[in-house]
Amino acid sequence: MSHCSVIAIDGPSGSGKSTVAKRLASELGILYIDTGAMFRALAYSANERDIDLDSDYEVSKFLEQINLEYQTSDGALIKIDGEDLSEKIRAHHVSKLASIISQIPAVREYLLKFQRSLAESKTCVMEGRDIGTVVFPEAFSKFFITASIEIRAKRRYDQLVENGQSDVDMDQLIKDVAKRDQKDMGREVAPLKKADDAELVDTSQMALDNVISHLADSVKKKALQFGIDL
Ligand code: DC
Repeated sequence: MSHCSVIAIDGPSGSGKSTVAKRLASELGILYIDTGAMFRALAYSANERDIDLDSDYEVSKFLEQINLEYQTSDGALIKIDGEDLSEKIRAHHVSKLASIISQIPAVREYLLKFQRSLAESKTCVMEGRDIGTVVFPEAFSKFFITASIEIRAKRRYDQLVENGQSDVDMDQLIKDVAKRDQKDMGREVAPLKKADDAELVDTSQMALDNVISHLADSVKKKALQFGIDL
């Protein structure tokens, strides 16, 4: 199999994969692509426009009409029809909407094309749920990052509090995380799943710096093995 110059990082929410992926990309000096932000942006925008997600017609019309932009020249991470959604998509209610919208085959198909075109001929770290299995099965380096449910809920809690949300209930968060896992792993199209050739990294008891240096070493070895320029 010929390999492409994508580093695929998949895993459940709160596993620390975003932080890890971002840091790894900056350490290697390459592009970072957050695919969760794309599902979030579509979910936010569809909700604002009152799109009926049960209607195939409305969803496909919505997808046809929008202009999605990732990492724009003015520094915004993600925009739809010119509106910068980079902050708005991080609200707790958007997580739920994103999980729902990510189960719609037409949405996944739309983003699959978008993600492939973004990474075309570029070396990058792409982070999501199905990057190593569906979007770039030929990625030269793949990781599946995970952590226990309790640790993941606690990380989400800290993040929400840091973002100014004070009414967060830890027990509810644990339930939300478990429910989201079930949805992400149980959906029919592109479920959250470790690729057979991905390396499993459990970050529950690992310091961030150790995770990054472990991944960076592994990527460099693979790059040498497969002749990929970093
Ligand atoms: O990583 P995140 O929490 O920002 O992702 C938001 C939602 O999008 C989450 O419910 C899973 C979904 N998602 C997905 O189905 N496939 C991806 N490649 C990335 C995210």
